[in-house]
Amino acid sequence: MYSDGYEDLGTPPGESAKTVTLEIDGKQVTVPEGTSIMRAAALVNRSIPKLCATDTLKAFGSCRLCLVEIEGRRGYPASCTTLVADGLKVSTETPKLQQLRRGVMELYLSDHPLDCVSCPANGHCELQDMAEVLDITDTRYGLGEVNHQHVPKDASNPYFTFDPTQCIVCSRCVRACDEIQGTFALTIQGRGFESKVAASQDESFLASECVSCGACVESCPTAALTEKSVIALGRPDRVETTTCGYCGVGCSFNAEVREDEVIRMVPNRDGHANHGHACVKGRFAFGYATHPDRITTPMIRKSIDDPWQQVSWDEAIDYTAREFKRIQEQYGRDAIGAITSSRCTNEETFLVQKLVRATFGNNNVDTCARVCHSPTGYGLKNTIGESAGTQAFDSVMKADAIIVVGANPTDGHPVFASQLKRRLRQGAKLIVADPRAIGLVRSPHIEAEYHLPVRPGANVALFNAMAHVIVTEGLTKEDYIAERCEPEAYQKWKAFVAEERNSPEAMAAATGVEPDLVRNAARLYATAGNGAIYYGLGVTEHSQGSTMVMAIANLAMATGNLGREGVGVNPLRGQNNVQGSCDMGSFPHEFSAYRHVSDPVVRGEFEAAWGRPLLDEPGLRIPNMFEAALDGSFKGLYVQGEDIAQSDPNTQHVTAAIAAMECVVVQDLFLNETAKYAHVFLPGSSFLEKDGTFINAERRCSRVRKIVEPRAGFQDWEVTMLLSNAMGYPMRYRHPSEIMDEIARLTPTFAGISYEKLDRLGSIQWPCNDLAPEGTPTMHVGEFVRGKGKFLLTEYVPTTERATRRYPLLLTTGRKLSQYNVGAQTRRTPNVTWASADVLEIHPDDAEMRGIKDGDMVGVTSRAGEIVLPARLSTLVRPGVVYTTFHFPESGANVVTTENSDWATNCPEYKVTAVEIVKVNQPSAWQKRFHEFTEHQLELLKGRETTHA
Ligand code: SF4
Ligand code: SF4
Ligand code: SF4
Ligand code: FES
Repeated sequence: MYSDGYEDLGTPPGESAKTVTLEIDGKQVTVPEGTSIMRAAALVNRSIPKLCATDTLKAFGSCRLCLVEIEGRRGYPASCTTLVADGLKVSTETPKLQQLRRGVMELYLSDHPLDCVSCPANGHCELQDMAEVLDITDTRYGLGEVNHQHVPKDASNPYFTFDPTQCIVCSRCVRACDEIQGTFALTIQGRGFESKVAASQDESFLASECVSCGACVESCPTAALTEKSVIALGRPDRVETTTCGYCGVGCSFNAEVREDEVIRMVPNRDGHANHGHACVKGRFAFGYATHPDRITTPMIRKSIDDPWQQVSWDEAIDYTAREFKRIQEQYGRDAIGAITSSRCTNEETFLVQKLVRATFGNNNVDTCARVCHSPTGYGLKNTIGESAGTQAFDSVMKADAIIVVGANPTDGHPVFASQLKRRLRQGAKLIVADPRAIGLVRSPHIEAEYHLPVRPGANVALFNAMAHVIVTEGLTKEDYIAERCEPEAYQKWKAFVAEERNSPEAMAAATGVEPDLVRNAARLYATAGNGAIYYGLGVTEHSQGSTMVMAIANLAMATGNLGREGVGVNPLRGQNNVQGSCDMGSFPHEFSAYRHVSDPVVRGEFEAAWGRPLLDEPGLRIPNMFEAALDGSFKGLYVQGEDIAQSDPNTQHVTAAIAAMECVVVQDLFLNETAKYAHVFLPGSSFLEKDGTFINAERRCSRVRKIVEPRAGFQDWEVTMLLSNAMGYPMRYRHPSEIMDEIARLTPTFAGISYEKLDRLGSIQWPCNDLAPEGTPTMHVGEFVRGKGKFLLTEYVPTTERATRRYPLLLTTGRKLSQYNVGAQTRRTPNVTWASADVLEIHPDDAEMRGIKDGDMVGVTSRAGEIVLPARLSTLVRPGVVYTTFHFPESGANVVTTENSDWATNCPEYKVTAVEIVKVNQPSAWQKRFHEFTEHQLELLKGRETTHA
């Protein structure tokens, strides 16, 4: 039994539909064929001693503790590796078994430090438990002369230690790394007494291939692998279940807490998105929440050159309300707006958009999803009728051919990547379409069938070419299409993609991909059985982002790959609550669940509920807010949990726009880049400090629970409420559950969601209503949400951002596993051990042409600006393409990205910037200005005054 009450049944469940019946210690049990005797016994409360077995890993049979007797069979088989059979009569407790088990345990203890009282695993060590079960307090053998008790600890990993003196060589860590994580970083080296756990080529954990997911630590039955935080802080006094605050996988965790301090985050085995797995960010990188950089007192100032004044919450809220009202009186109702964040909860996001529509009286609300997945909303809504992914993550376990396009799951969505790799090891085929050879293209026991190294900006050309092959080779699913799609639109699309100009050969000049590769990949996707597409920001952040999302939906409809498990169109959402922030009505033209503000019926419902007249015209999108600020008509902005000065494109344009405003209000944990231009700073609460819900990439709504008290005194939703009240529109929620109840009343797809149901079911995938009271894992079953699926024409229009003589290379961007987005959190954790700066990957041929060597500082110049980064020579990028990440503000990756954007949604074209690279020896002019400005702002922060303004 684990600290959260989870009972480990020893081995994974049997998968068969056929059952067998046997007798264990006189009790009859019926289980699926393929179940181990150990598991069957556990199901009738006969707990067999074990050490090397755990139900998250395949049985291994090495510890010999789980022996049983079977009537009519010789010897004492291991119950973890022996499968049930009809009519077996098994005994789990006999004097002989007891004697054998005690012998085994004594041998283990003879090479183990017997210092349980001071051991960090005391109280949750399976070796200790087994000794107790077998009533062993001493060993006959004593600590022999030859033992392992002198072997030094490996403390190289910042988060956990490996202590060989505690290791019983059960191999659970090795199997966890192989089977759960899929990194294959560990082995058991040597035999017999010499056998030991080794990381990679017997290196330290830090130097090895280990990616610090923590699966081995979680699987270890002793203190051999232990979190450093547990060693330092001891055992928790309570456990609370919550949801990871990092990426869109939405892993569930049991936060183990002592008093008001989080000791560790243990991945929840009952978590529907992660099934007990995690990555280095959610598992270990939570220390930012207590980092000394946190600002926990509100601050105000008149000008960004003034020192900050620390004030009470009342004063900060009152000042903000007065400023916003002054601006509206002086410049008009539409001169203020707000930006919601995908980092925040649904309840917080819902309140911010309500504040804008009901309190500000305009629709000037937008969200950071504008710059990531807004094309997903547009493209999927118009083709299949719902702005969300179609599947649960578990669906990938039924996929036969998987396309990963414009995404890097091993870095961006690591827990899903582990599941995907598991499916690939079972035999599913993989097609990767990406300019870069991402980790999935080749990794231990994984090799993509096809890697299509598409040129940045040519995704639509590539997918049109794949569609051409599928249509012209008769690989479309005509029955499915006839039944489920609009016939006229289909015929038009079919004729369009069949045109010779869309063939792989004709498109090769644009895509840069060998036509045969395209043909084979298209055939594989169309014919393998279940075809599933997973995509990320490499699809959406383009001038044709929405077109590409439609091209993906077209391809899935044409091949019948929507509406059941194993298939689908799956946007891998970046941040923890991108899906939710969009669902909650964060866009200027939509109420919750994507209903247009001009719809009189919907608007009427909101007006009746909120008691205010609401505007029927869309408000300003983020880029429009910047334009309006620069032309002097937009003067006040409330930014909750978002760092537009770092994350939005063309930084110099963004900062000029923010600097032109009269009241910028930032609500955040730290003085982020935007806050350096702010007039009011409202301290934010971390995900550990609030109640609410997040919605992950599967549309899965999960509870976020307050683990510790908010350091600044308020949860974020409370602050929004205070601001609204101060501006004259009363909000009176006592708990976020009441906000969710309002969301449910006003949003048909959320009608059945409540905190009570979430607590009962664990999580719920929307739509959840009378038709689907427990949620909807797979969408579009039987028919599409819009009725008939609609094929849309996806003419390839090359981006204007193309390689020229002046800017001959194409820059594209992505993420690293250990860092997260703008890095505000992960940069304040030991995750910097793995990545402490952004670098520019450049192909050796391009580097040689420019006299650039590995490690040289290089200037990256686009038509928007110039930055300087260290160069890393890499064949992961194709010639003509350079790549960087955007985790460190001083790198200024978005100084060079341009204001080009998606035609339908204004999502910036981050993924294609024409640049030139030259060797330099000093930072760029922007970087020098950035450093000066940052120094100045940090000085102003340091000198903050407590005298009230
Ligand atoms: S480190 Fe832990 S899990 Fe790995 S072999 Fe040793 S005892 Fe088993
Ligand atoms: S932390 Fe994860 S990747 Fe590293 S060795 Fe353990 S299981 Fe493997
Ligand atoms: S995969 Fe995403 S949600 Fe899961 S632990 Fe990592 S960052 Fe958190
Ligand atoms: S638990 Fe069965 S051999 Fe270890």
